[in-house]
Amino acid sequence: MKIAIHKSSWGFSPEWINYCEKNSIPYKIVNCYDTDIISQLEDCEVLFWHHHHSDAKDVLFAKGLLFALEQTGKKVFPEFNSNWHFDDKVGQKYLLEAIDAPLVKSFVFYEKKDAMAWIEKTSFPKVFKLRGGAGSANVKLIRSKSQAHNIVNKAFGKGFPAYDKWNDLKEQYLRFTQGKLNRIEALKSIRRVFVSTRFAKTVGNQKGYVYFQEFIPNNDSDIRVITIGEKAFAIKRMTRPNDFRASGGGVIKFEKELIDERCVTIAFETSKKLNASVVAYDFVFDSENKPLIVEINYGFAHQPYYNCPGYWDKNLNWHEGKFNQVEWILEEYLK
Ligand SMILES: Nc1ncnc2c1ncn2[C@@H]1O[C@H](COP(=O)(O)OP(=O)(O)OP(=O)(O)O)[C@@H](O)[C@H]1O
Ligand SMILES: [Mg+2]
Repeated sequence: MKIAIHKSSWGFSPEWINYCEKNSIPYKIVNCYDTDIISQLEDCEVLFWHHHHSDAKDVLFAKGLLFALEQTGKKVFPEFNSNWHFDDKVGQKYLLEAIDAPLVKSFVFYEKKDAMAWIEKTSFPKVFKLRGGAGSANVKLIRSKSQAHNIVNKAFGKGFPAYDKWNDLKEQYLRFTQGKLNRIEALKSIRRVFVSTRFAKTVGNQKGYVYFQEFIPNNDSDIRVITIGEKAFAIKRMTRPNDFRASGGGVIKFEKELIDERCVTIAFETSKKLNASVVAYDFVFDSENKPLIVEINYGFAHQPYYNCPGYWDKNLNWHEGKFNQVEWILEEYLK
């Protein structure tokens, strides 16, 4: 089986290429942005493309290309079931409700009057999210009715930029307090306050809908579980100081004892229902200590997970020892 790998300098691609080299697996490097990509892939049975939610070019057509190939019988990563809802929390709401997965109660409105009527009868705080974004960038706590009114007016007015420059600056400050500030990134972030990103310009403002979730209080962390086929691994991400948001906060714990195995069970069960090869789940715990899913993803920044001390199999047996989860993705496809 000949495989094609879309080359990029970041993400899974360099690991996949290394793996093929190490194991003498025939592969071909491709550039999915080439207009003749379909004919370039004629001699390949599988395409691997770790596409990114905030790469302007990827967002324009990665899903379209992958779905087109899959429809004609090629294998692709990520496949449709892992991919269609990527970076789309609105799509995930319907999907997870439809399979009866334990999603945090979520609300979406497409008419301003419906959103305003809901605000009158609901309680606060709630969590407001854009359908896309990562690292908590587009996730905010809405403490009051009047704050919610402002959000709804904006959602059905000029909308929200897909890239939040002020949040980005705050994140750089957080890195500074953690002693992890990368000078170049800090300067780039300051520049982005004045010069919008290609991504933000390409995708335009998010508007015409508004998405809220119940706020699940008193979580000092979230639990992220990733399933790849019949294996799962997990981390505990601590929230930022004085903030309810964990993802992107930079403080991660890896000890097995810190992971509630009910999350692993839910992750396996849900991935099975979704029939999806790779799914990352973020969990928080409600007042009765019940784990609830906040969102799902196929793609993830993989480096931190090299620190995981082991993984679970589908029977919840623990396998101690380091592993390379990016290689697992390839292995799943080459089985
Ligand atoms: N409904 C909620 N109640 C309480 N905390 C929440 C809720 N939703 C999200 N959080 C917290 O906010 C963080 C960011 O939320 P979410 O995972 O939805 O956003 P994201 O930016 O897509 O994250 P990621 O980088 O994991 O893709 C979570 O890691 C969790 O700690
Ligand atoms: Mg998340």
